[in-house]
Amino acid sequence: MPAPVTKEQELELRIESLAFGGNGVARLEGFVLFVRRGLPGDLVRARVTKVKRSHAEAETIEVLEAGPSRVEAPCPYFGACGGCRFQDLAYEVQCEAKAAQVKDALVRIAGISEPPLEPIIPAEEIYGYRNKLEYSFSATPEGPALGFHRAGRWDELLPIERCLLTTELGNSIRAAVVEWAREEVLEAYDQKEKRGYLRHLVVREGRNTGQALVMLVTASDTPFDSDFLVRSLTKFPEVRSIYWAVNDGVGETTNVPAKLIWGEEAIEEELCGLNFRLRPNAFLQTNTLMAEKLYSLAGEYAGLTGDETVWDLYCGTGTIGLTLARQARSVWGIEISEESVACALENAERNSVGNIAFFAGNVGQVIRELKERSGEPDVVVVDPPRAGLAGKALRRLAETGAPRIVYVSCNPTTLAGDFKQLQTQAGYRLVRAQPVDMFPHTPHVETVALLEREMPVRAKLRSS
Ligand SMILES: C[S@@+](CC[C@H](N)C(=O)[O-])C[C@H]1O[C@@H](n2cnc3c(N)ncnc32)[C@H](O)[C@@H]1O
Repeated sequence: MPAPVTKEQELELRIESLAFGGNGVARLEGFVLFVRRGLPGDLVRARVTKVKRSHAEAETIEVLEAGPSRVEAPCPYFGACGGCRFQDLAYEVQCEAKAAQVKDALVRIAGISEPPLEPIIPAEEIYGYRNKLEYSFSATPEGPALGFHRAGRWDELLPIERCLLTTELGNSIRAAVVEWAREEVLEAYDQKEKRGYLRHLVVREGRNTGQALVMLVTASDTPFDSDFLVRSLTKFPEVRSIYWAVNDGVGETTNVPAKLIWGEEAIEEELCGLNFRLRPNAFLQTNTLMAEKLYSLAGEYAGLTGDETVWDLYCGTGTIGLTLARQARSVWGIEISEESVACALENAERNSVGNIAFFAGNVGQVIRELKERSGEPDVVVVDPPRAGLAGKALRRLAETGAPRIVYVSCNPTTLAGDFKQLQTQAGYRLVRAQPVDMFPHTPHVETVALLEREMPVRAKLRSS
């Protein structure tokens, strides 16, 4: 059946629900349209932007009738800023939509008609929850400004004066850096023209310790007056570390080697009663409070008695493994980033956790070697990036045949696909799963899932 819409066509559409990724779902003669900025219940006028065989994409031009769950977005930059998508959707409805997306993925992709889902855990704070923000510099008539990308634009920046996702401290530090840059008469980097100097600012906060780390990223290694920057920032007693990094490449990354220009090498954060060191680029979940909830849920699902060999795959700086080590015989962490592994080792020492070991490596390539060292795992915790158990990781994990897998997922579609494979290849079943909202106003949702094996994996592999 040909699509009943054409590109650029304008239509009135009633939005039925929210799809994974955050677009509204509408139907025209049964044909699905994903509508940007359409919320459940809205009647919108929308313009079709892309037509495919199975569906089309459209953009809301005007909300003709607001759905019952629309609320006033508190941020003046909402809509223009690429940061938050759903400040205008009542928070309970955001949570319902995320829970429905997890269920839908498990039904549709994993083929489980009634997934054993527990109710979503909502975020404790829906604003001011982030412990890290990365800003970009742009040029304005008043001088350099800091802000975020405009919604849907890689090449346009929106200067901001207050972001509701960070703290008062985070906002004040950003404002102080803008003031410094203007007084220094430094030029913002222009991403299109590939010239200029100031590129990014990263502000990290230890939310449970009150310590802050600031990293400035510039385009070349032409020095600036670091004393003046340090004076501007050390008026905040919370600031403990100031770093400077140079990115001369075209890519907009802040993940580049950084030089400490003032203070401590790392700041501290406390999670689940443990103390973690945070350097500029080491991975840490960006919502501290909800990371604690996520990890304690992973611990509950792991069901440790003190006698288990536990693997923590994709372990980052070791946070999950370290929180589990108190209830396990031994924990073995694998992580691809050497910087994160170094932090994990340091974190183990700092917290006097002696029954844990960390190794740098690609999960898919090192599982067999890990098994030789640790012996058969009783519980495997996996916390992969959005792509899920990519490469050989899934097959190797299935071969291992651990009795229990705790899957911490930031992408329900790869969780569902990986589960299906683990079911087919090694007889795992989904025992329980619970979504957790760590990022209010964004389309992201985390899920913790418990997988158990129904029959010994070797028998299953032999019979297939
Ligand atoms: C979602 S993070 C989880 C980190 C950690 N569990 C936490 O909660 O802080 C995923 C981690 O997987 C690592 N990673 C990505 N691909 C990997 C691979 N193929 N093998 C090992 N680690 C990988 C990333 O560097 C990142 O630290």
